[in-house]
Parts: sequence; structure tokens; C-alpha cells
Amino acid sequence: MEQAPVPYQRILFVCTNQRENNEACCADRGSAAILEALKSRIKALNLTRHIRVAKSGCHDVCAKGPSVMMFPDHVWYAGVTSDDVERIIQHAIRDIQPNTAAV
Ligand code: FES
Repeated sequence: MEQAPVPYQRILFVCTNQRENNEACCADRGSAAILEALKSRIKALNLTRHIRVAKSGCHDVCAKGPSVMMFPDHVWYAGVTSDDVERIIQHAIRDIQPNTAAV
């Protein structure tokens, strides 16, 4: 096993979980589009080495999805729509220092 510092200043986890039997879930509420929109904006801002946008499994708040969690801030966004993407991005990049070391 290797151990190293996390190579990102911030990570956005977007739940893309699909539930069975018509149970409420982020996948059925457009989370894949939210994931791609967030990734696209971070890429356009040339911040992919500093902010990671990753799909994740269930955050256990399925009825309030799409769910996005931001670390290390411990911020949770619920009921995210495409209209919210830019606000999340602005929050995520607010203090990013592009010239600091990142892997
Ligand atoms: S399916 Fe997204 S929080 Fe459970």
C-alpha cells in the first residue's frame, strides 16, 4: 500500500446511483448531466489538476437528489439542477490557487 497527500485542492462527488423498483434516485433526476456539466466547466477553466469532479455511489439522501458533496468543505448540495452548476463551480474555485503544487 502507498500513502500520499490527496493531489487535489477540492473534490466534488456527484451521486449517479441508479436504484431499482422506481425508488427515488439521483440517476433518474439527471445527475449524469450534472456530472458532465461540472467536469466540463472545470476543464474549461483549466483546473482539472486542482479540482476533481467524480461520480460516486449513493450519498443516502436519494429523495433529495441529485446530490453533490464537496470536500474538504463538507458542503452538500441537494436537488441540484443545471441552473445550479455555475454557482457550485464558483463556490468550488473561490480560493483555488492554480500555481500551487498538484500532481
Ligand atoms: S441515489 Fe443519490 S443519494 Fe442515493
